[in-house]
Amino acid sequence: MHIQRQPLSEHLIRPMGPRDLDEVLDIERACFAEPWSRGLFESELENPVASAYTLRLDPDGPVAAYIVFWVVLGEAHVLNLSVAQGRRRRGLASVLLDDALDKMRASMVYEVFLEVRDSNRAARRLYEKFGFSESFVRKRYYGDEDAIVMALRLGPGA
Ligand SMILES: CC(C)(COP(=O)(O)OP(=O)(O)OC[C@H]1O[C@@H](n2cnc3c(N)ncnc32)[C@H](O)[C@@H]1OP(=O)(O)O)[C@@H](O)C(=O)NCCC(=O)NCCS
Repeated sequence: MHIQRQPLSEHLIRPMGPRDLDEVLDIERACFAEPWSRGLFESELENPVASAYTLRLDPDGPVAAYIVFWVVLGEAHVLNLSVAQGRRRRGLASVLLDDALDKMRASMVYEVFLEVRDSNRAARRLYEKFGFSESFVRKRYYGDEDAIVMALRLGPGA
């Protein structure tokens, strides 16, 4: 699936590096009541099974969105996907997720999982558009709220 409201050439997706973390953390803290810490991002940047990418709208512009996922033995897990508040509803999460799914296919991933807050309608709609379906519920996963585990099969026949 390719959602392209802006041509892909206008987007720049690059591996996240330590120098991106100030900007990433600004977005992260604005997005989540319990944001990831700098240390958690740093450990993911060192984690051999983790991939993290930023998306900019121009090469020298600010980070507009980012994604973090793991690939382990043919399964992928999306851990974080966030778009800066002023940049939403322009297809940026879709572009980043689409790119990540391409990278997963290239790594022979056959199934992708993620958790999403029950109340996060925006994210649930986004993942549904990509064909993710609700797999099961992790009760009180977020302490105050259930997580919906969503899954997407990739690969031949999917
Ligand atoms: C969820 C999030 C990543 C979506 O990013 P985005 O760049 O705005 O998403 P897109 O523009 O690619 O939207 C794709 C589709 O997702 C759905 N969607 C996105 N935002 C939505 C909203 N506020 N309400 C309902 N549906 C929404 C729509 O189906 C949309 O397609 P449409 O615009 O054609 O209707 C963004 O809102 C965000 O960063 N939220 C805070 C962090 C977060 O919750 N991350 C997900 C954790 S699991």
